Amino acid sequence: MGVKLVLKDEQVAELMECMKKHKQKPGPLMPTLHDAQRIFGCVPLEVQRIISKELGETISKINGVVTFYSRFTIEPTGKHVINVCLGTACYVKGSQLILDEFSNQLHLQPGHTSDDGEFTLGATRCIGACGLAPVFTVDGNVYGQANPNMAKKALADLKAAK
Ligand code: FES
Repeated sequence: MGVKLVLKDEQVAELMECMKKHKQKPGPLMPTLHDAQRIFGCVPLEVQRIISKELGETISKINGVVTFYSRFTIEPTGKHVINVCLGTACYVKGSQLILDEFSNQLHLQPGHTSDDGEFTLGATRCIGACGLAPVFTVDGNVYGQANPNMAKKALADLKAAK
């Protein structure tokens, strides 16, 4: 499931240019991944293959870095990005139920984007708003002391605003 990304020739050429520069310094992988995320909006397997070939790093190492850092994504992000905090303070106050509600409403597993490119659903670590636990964010706006009904309402508002 998810949005299929078509790599454009000019985007690949830009990435190759960036890698040429980064290779002249030690540790070219991180700056290359930043460029790839900027150029393609994500770092899917097709892009990881290009990087692997050029930098001589294994796909498993590259994929490990991409999945570890939340600033990199495997799929293109949707028009609306929803994140539910699963940090300890939020989790003990039921944030998993909020995530499940979004997941059911959107028919989407966390970490994925809907086929129409509208929504990306994610689970995050602590976002530093524990006093408001449990929290979720929609396009960067924080919803505190949240519950599954609030999630449903936030989605309905987004869909109504389309
Ligand atoms: S644990 Fe959710 S904001 Fe800190």
